[in-house]
Amino acid sequence: MSMRILVLISGRGSNLAALVEAAHAQAWPAQVVGVISNRPQAAGLQWAQSHGLPTQVLDHQAFASREAFDAALLQACLAHRPDVVVLAGFMRVLGEAFVQHFEGRLINIHPSLLPAFTGLHTHRRALQAGVKVAGATAHYVTPRLDHGPVIAQAVVPVLPRDTEHSLADRVLRAEHQLLPLAVAWHVRGELQLHEGCVHHRQGAAQTLFFPDADLTPAMAVPQ
Ligand code: GAR
Repeated sequence: MSMRILVLISGRGSNLAALVEAAHAQAWPAQVVGVISNRPQAAGLQWAQSHGLPTQVLDHQAFASREAFDAALLQACLAHRPDVVVLAGFMRVLGEAFVQHFEGRLINIHPSLLPAFTGLHTHRRALQAGVKVAGATAHYVTPRLDHGPVIAQAVVPVLPRDTEHSLADRVLRAEHQLLPLAVAWHVRGELQLHEGCVHHRQGAAQTLFFPDADLTPAMAVPQ
């Protein structure tokens, strides 16, 4: 039986696109069944619609409180009967009730090598800190922001003349391989959570290295 993947976005949707393409190309036992955005103008909504995916907007600004938004979002998500919920550039912090409801089946992509650089402006902060590698993390979501069990990480170099933009672009290309890999493992039942750590049952390396910075785009980034 095909697993139902629900994707939450806030913006461009390039990770959503990477996920949908991979699910199709790799014949996952799963499919993306819907996309929900908290921002009406999110470009990823158009991409989803043009690929025949049901979309919904739940504008967080229309809600009086974080709890009210979370409750409405939970109901909207449940309507899709998801087996797994993927946060693909979803820029709202989710409350404990929402997170607990989907415990063990809520996956986030974050543009840093967690636990370094939780929160916002990860690339700017990485450059300011002078680190020599950067990357992205796919992880299960727990109530503590950007701290859930790591499924996989992708590592890219930080180059001497990098700007926030060039580093973000390099990391994003890595994300387009990392997130589909993590979700594919999840839907195929290949992951095991043990004492707060995620292990791949067959011992696959949970690391992607792009040492030469010469990342070929996994796919075109939707504008
Ligand atoms: C991605 O870089 C993702 O890692 C980041 O937002 C971007 C969304 O791009 N997510 C976060 O910062 C979550 N804290 P996309 O809309 O093109 O997928």
